[in-house]
Amino acid sequence: MAYESFRDFLTLLEQEGELIRYSDPIATELEITELADREMKKPNGGKALLIEKPTVHGKISSFPLAINTLGSFKRMALSFGAKSVDEVADAMGDLMQAKPPTNMKQAIGLLKSAMDLRHVRPKKVTSAPCQDVVHLAKNSKTSIQDLERKDATLLDLPILKCWPMDGGRYVTLPCVVTKDPDTGERNVGMYRVQVYDPWTTGMHWQLQKVAARHGKRYFETGEKMPVAIFLGGDPVYPFSATAPLPDGVDELLLAGYLRKSSVPLVKCKTVDLEVPANSDFVIEGYIDPKEELQMEGPFGDHTGYYSLADLYPVFHVTAVTHRRDAVYPATIVGIPPMEDFYIGAASVRLFLPIFKMNFPEIVDIALPAEGVFHNLVFVSIKKTYPMQAYKIMHGLWGMGQMMFTKYIVVVDENVDVHNTSEVLFHWFANTDPQRDSILTRGPSDVLDHATSEFAVGSKMGIDATKKLPGEGFPREWPPLIQMDEGIKCRIDEYLSRNPH
Ligand SMILES: Cc1cc2nc3c(=O)[nH]c(=O)nc-3n(C[C@H](O)[C@H](O)[C@H](O)COP(=O)(O)O)c2cc1C
Repeated sequence: MAYESFRDFLTLLEQEGELIRYSDPIATELEITELADREMKKPNGGKALLIEKPTVHGKISSFPLAINTLGSFKRMALSFGAKSVDEVADAMGDLMQAKPPTNMKQAIGLLKSAMDLRHVRPKKVTSAPCQDVVHLAKNSKTSIQDLERKDATLLDLPILKCWPMDGGRYVTLPCVVTKDPDTGERNVGMYRVQVYDPWTTGMHWQLQKVAARHGKRYFETGEKMPVAIFLGGDPVYPFSATAPLPDGVDELLLAGYLRKSSVPLVKCKTVDLEVPANSDFVIEGYIDPKEELQMEGPFGDHTGYYSLADLYPVFHVTAVTHRRDAVYPATIVGIPPMEDFYIGAASVRLFLPIFKMNFPEIVDIALPAEGVFHNLVFVSIKKTYPMQAYKIMHGLWGMGQMMFTKYIVVVDENVDVHNTSEVLFHWFANTDPQRDSILTRGPSDVLDHATSEFAVGSKMGIDATKKLPGEGFPREWPPLIQMDEGIKCRIDEYLSRNPH
């Protein structure tokens, strides 16, 4: 289902009883965070919140703010226009199974052509709601004459100061568009944006991310790098921007696939990039590679800790455009569980078929909320030969953003990886720590404050599967205690007749 606007999605959430409106003024400085954090900590992610009168320095913003809109499995499914996330994942799996690939390259190629087959390539349009209102930066060199010129800047948007020790205000759900200067391939990634002043921001793309690679090429050539940030529109946009797609696969193709309709793209007003015409806000600008990097942060992060200030490129705003009736989308990150848990879990579910293609023995994968995405991964496998669990650990550490995973625990197929208590039971019961664990080194998440070096760390793999001959276990493996199915049925029937 294609949403024409973020507002359309909010209307549906309200109809589904998934949205709470707040009509009193609430401050963008910390207060919205406290309200949203309490909501996100409720069972199954609570509700989405629509703050009708967010205040910025005590003044009511011209724009309402919505938060926690993707923060439950139900709202994730609604964002896809589906009954459940599983329904979308199964459809994606079916596409893949039509012609099973034999390696990762083929799998990605297949994903690309599967998306193409559904006629979901972005299409160009000339008029766009996201350009209803256009504000040009005072120092913008653009020659566009017919634009409505006002003194509106980023400071008019209800951008949050999330946590007490944050270095400032941050745009927290930005879809950042860049292009590879060599191939012209587009990337859309979600990288937070710290507001420095009315017309400049930080650009927090981390070392291993695609936009950072694009940026590096601009730093090599010395050319100015055009960047566009869009917010709102169809809710599949922010989801797609966070999805761990391989470098070179356009996130807007995934967005088109999920919304079952091409993403309408309009040219930006001041930079040579395109953005979804039905977004709510667009912030256009550039990064000048000749300019020095600037300190960005601290920021209360996904890890539950503040990520400390570090050097990042400076983004110069040349234009801010928006819908006349724009709603500003936001999220907060912090001590889990938060909205991002549901975004990440949906991603893992959707991309499970790709993992399975590479490793057919994989049954399921879960990233428990406590592990904050990359810290902890549980994998269940159908094990048929010795040391297979180790093959899976090494394979996963070599796959895209799975490289950041600190701990991988491999269990047998009968274990439900979404039930953390069940995994812990099998982990503790089935392992001899020295024999069944492996330590190795690799790149780490730049947000990881525990590694001794920046972006470099160690990893631990735990083989919690039943041990086979050849795995250094000479004894007999005992059976797991399980009741007969017939007895279970008899007792079910008995209890239904004699309820207590
Ligand atoms: C709410 C949220 C905020 C994020 N903020 C950042 C960020 O500031 N910097 C970053 O590099 N990744 C951030 N990420 C993770 C990236 O969006 C994710 O790794 C994505 O796949 C990167 O896209 P890319 O592979 O095209 O670079 C964030 C994810 C979420 C869900």
